[in-house]
Amino acid sequence: MYGDPHTHAAATGSGQGKRPHACVVIIFGASGDLTKRKLIPALYNLALENRLPERFAVVGYARSELSHESFRARLRAAVREFSRTGLKDEAVWEKFAATLYYVRGGYDEPESYQRLKEFIDAFDRGSRALPARVLYLATPPELYGAVIERMSAAGLAPRETDGEARTRVVIEKPFGTDLQTAQELNHRVHESLDEKQVYRIDHYLGKETVQNIMVFRFANAVFEPVWNRRYVDHVQITAAESVGVEGRGGYYDEAGVVRDMFQNHLLQLLCLTAMEPPVSFSADAVRDEKGKLLKSVRPIAPEEVAAAAVRGQYAGGKIDGAEVTGYRQEPGVARGSTTVTYAAIKLAIDNWRWEGVPFYLRSGKRMAKRVTEVAIQFKRPPLLLFKSHAVEAVNPNVLVMRIQPDEGVSLTFEVKPPGPDMVIKPLSLDFKYEQAFGNSSPEAYETLLEDCIEGDSTLFTRHDWVESAWALMDPIIQVWKLSKPKNFPNYDAGGWGPGAADEFMERDGRRWRQP
Ligand code: BG6
Repeated sequence: MYGDPHTHAAATGSGQGKRPHACVVIIFGASGDLTKRKLIPALYNLALENRLPERFAVVGYARSELSHESFRARLRAAVREFSRTGLKDEAVWEKFAATLYYVRGGYDEPESYQRLKEFIDAFDRGSRALPARVLYLATPPELYGAVIERMSAAGLAPRETDGEARTRVVIEKPFGTDLQTAQELNHRVHESLDEKQVYRIDHYLGKETVQNIMVFRFANAVFEPVWNRRYVDHVQITAAESVGVEGRGGYYDEAGVVRDMFQNHLLQLLCLTAMEPPVSFSADAVRDEKGKLLKSVRPIAPEEVAAAAVRGQYAGGKIDGAEVTGYRQEPGVARGSTTVTYAAIKLAIDNWRWEGVPFYLRSGKRMAKRVTEVAIQFKRPPLLLFKSHAVEAVNPNVLVMRIQPDEGVSLTFEVKPPGPDMVIKPLSLDFKYEQAFGNSSPEAYETLLEDCIEGDSTLFTRHDWVESAWALMDPIIQVWKLSKPKNFPNYDAGGWGPGAADEFMERDGRRWRQP
């Protein structure tokens, strides 16, 4: 993996030089957490790397009373605290800060949207060509529909049916809370906008390692022949978090892990791992394949939930030597809450490639460590040749795509250590991003914002995918809501989830990896 890397720019996502001459980014919800933790630090890092359009402005819109100056001052502190590079270059910050503006307005006040429009029109008039326009919805999700309607009524986001969209609307997750609300929201969105103007964010798709799944699979010839039911025994997709709900108890207690992690991030990882090669790397070709894959996932009927999924909620415990409280003691969480903070779900894919290969997905809060990975476990060799040499069994080969942390790819295989005895030992071939490329990966939001500015929607979720994903998860959410768990909390913070999750795998003659 080292040597002389010949790098090629593939025509998908992230920085392909379609940068417009001018762009204005409008952030609704500009006084909130997302703006200060993610959006502005990401834009600042793009500025540092000289990746923003020549003529550029960010206009924050929110209810708080702020001047341009006070908006800039608060964002300066945010960049210092949250940007991956800190406030690395004061001169770049000064130049970038001069492009930040603030317009105060309520989400329900047509006249405020009108003022916002006048402000932006003035920016547009100073450009030689019409600037691209990115309208970012970073408000609470219950406002998405109303903000889209108001901004469209004010003429901020005209519907564009022909050619490439100049005006793009970015919608943060969660997109609905179940199939019905997602359909309703899609309907409201489509009343004002063409689908090609809509960029539904899933920040996992902006992660370098997630984009690499496609490159790994489709830019190499050796893996494709074994990437199927003939060679793969099963696949484990893990997104374990050591953090708890981090001050978001109110939101999380309503959501739970299936809405928070499975309906979006885990199903995206599943799609990239299991989908067929797209006909090209255009946004729709990739999204067509992901959509097809989700449609071939066998739906889990309510009466099958008990056999196909396991749920859990954390009690207090120790993580890295420090005591942490149980879920029910978190601020904002109901004392007798039955919200699910850990889930494991077994999915079957009814297509030619994957028939009979189970995909086990799991995610939980307050687990032993933070690790996200996709592990492809291959079948064992058909015959155990080394029995007479006291070798009981050989380990199956496992290919692990490590999404975070310690980003990389590893392949384990069996070797014979030197010596007179026939001994077999597993070793691995490892590629680590940090060794190969240094520690300089952009944050997901940098990649995704740059793609919005350039009008590349490959890494964003299409309306049909969101609905299919809800359709798959809804029965599980519903069944768990109706049948209250009697044994919660049922796993200790700092462990690997409830015992029932281990039994769930044992029933299939398999074991969870402990990465
Ligand atoms: C978010 C969830 O979408 O993803 C959080 O709402 C979760 O609860 C986070 O912690 C995980 O993202 P990452 O990038 O840290 O894996």
